[in-house]
Amino acid sequence: MSVLQQISPNVRNTKPSECTVLLRRSSQIKEELRRGVRRAYEKVIDVYWGDSHQTGVKPLSFVRQVLAACVYPELINSDKLPVDVKQRAQSLLRECARGSVGKGSCTAAAGVPEIVHRISEFIMKRDGGAPSYPENIYISPGSQWSLMNILKVLVNSEASPRTGVLTPVPCYPVTNLSITALGAVVVPYYLSEGQGQGWQLQVHELHQALESAKETCNPTALYVINPGNPSGHIQRRKSIQEVIQFASEKRLFLLADEVYQDCIHGEKSEFVSYKRVLAEMGPPFSDTVELASFHSVSKGIMGECGLRSGYVELVNVDPAVMKHIHILFSKDGCAPVLGQIALDLMMNPPQPGDPSHPLYHMETQHIRTTWVHNVKRVCEVINSLPGFCCQPTEGGSFLLPRLYLPPKAIQKAQEVGMQPDMFYCVKLLEEAGVLVSPGCEYGQKPGTHYIRFCITTPEDIREEFLKRLTSFHVQFMKDFS
Ligand SMILES: Cc1ncc(COP(=O)(O)O)c(C=O)c1O
Repeated sequence: MSVLQQISPNVRNTKPSECTVLLRRSSQIKEELRRGVRRAYEKVIDVYWGDSHQTGVKPLSFVRQVLAACVYPELINSDKLPVDVKQRAQSLLRECARGSVGKGSCTAAAGVPEIVHRISEFIMKRDGGAPSYPENIYISPGSQWSLMNILKVLVNSEASPRTGVLTPVPCYPVTNLSITALGAVVVPYYLSEGQGQGWQLQVHELHQALESAKETCNPTALYVINPGNPSGHIQRRKSIQEVIQFASEKRLFLLADEVYQDCIHGEKSEFVSYKRVLAEMGPPFSDTVELASFHSVSKGIMGECGLRSGYVELVNVDPAVMKHIHILFSKDGCAPVLGQIALDLMMNPPQPGDPSHPLYHMETQHIRTTWVHNVKRVCEVINSLPGFCCQPTEGGSFLLPRLYLPPKAIQKAQEVGMQPDMFYCVKLLEEAGVLVSPGCEYGQKPGTHYIRFCITTPEDIREEFLKRLTSFHVQFMKDFS
């Protein structure tokens, strides 16, 4: 029997992303441009990913300096680094096995114990003192890695009916892929696209999704993304309370993906964690609702996707289940030590009075104000274009404007076998050298179309992006009207 025939049906059921063609074409065009092939543009503006460093945002000096000194401790003796950077690197190295970031195999399964401890202190401070225990925290190579481990515990691949997991529409697609690969069923619930008030999670949609799943699976978990990707909404306390009540009533394990908690750009917006709201609700909720909350260095001010580091905190999970979770994280070995250090620096940035604080403050303020300006400016321009409507967002790294495509464009897309918004994105890439992703990648209501792009870019990239998008879009609408 060939290996192909032996591939698990669950893995076989995972469909390739709609965007494979788009990404492949983008790589070809970038390569052609490198070879000097002439096109209407000299560079592709790539705002497909939420990777701010890729779009040109500079990494934070403090983070890179400490990392550099940890990798090459000779730097600690040089006069090139601020004194607090050297001290931080020294104390972190003392916590690493044999004082080296290369001795990863010796660190505990959950992560370097002192770092795990500081994460729990960070969480407590963030959540107004709600208790957090280091033994409930696991560091992993990225939050999706942790999520996969928790899903492995929640999904019974031999059960009939199969395990179901409620996930939002639109949704970060990797999560749905992980659920399917484990043999569970994705149970979609729609986020509501408010008329000018942004996206929202409404509990009646959760009820509806659960009702519709009755015949096909046994839902055991509810996945939420707050702040949202790609929707950019931030849930208010009341909305989180409603979701917690729902999870409690329906006995669902809550998976709170909070990797964008530091990406806030709404004027009066505030991130409140699920953990905090749960603690504030008091008994019976605070000591019964099972929760896993995820965070990561990939997003926000850090933007260190390449370092692959995140953590999960577990709340109210049965000790017997925790034992299995521990085994799963132990099996993986420890997360990359450099990533763990980045996580530590994210939790404990320089404080006023530290030599690195003025530069750190300036760099982070610059990034935050650029986000706010970008969202405002891009929304204004997009909303001034025919056939586009962009909801206001409060957080996250993306905008998701709705596209009202002319019937002729939809028909043309059908003729070439593409989803209409994919057709738009392919043309935008070919003709204007702008790489964005189509809404069909994230799930959307039938008959609606979107594009998504990252807004954590420097200003010059934002302006070039808007110039190219505007002239392409106007021509596109004319061509297909
Ligand atoms: C909602 C969401 N969760 C998780 C991730 C990935 O996080 P990590 O790099 O820590 O695995 C992303 C990345 O885009 C995301 O949008």
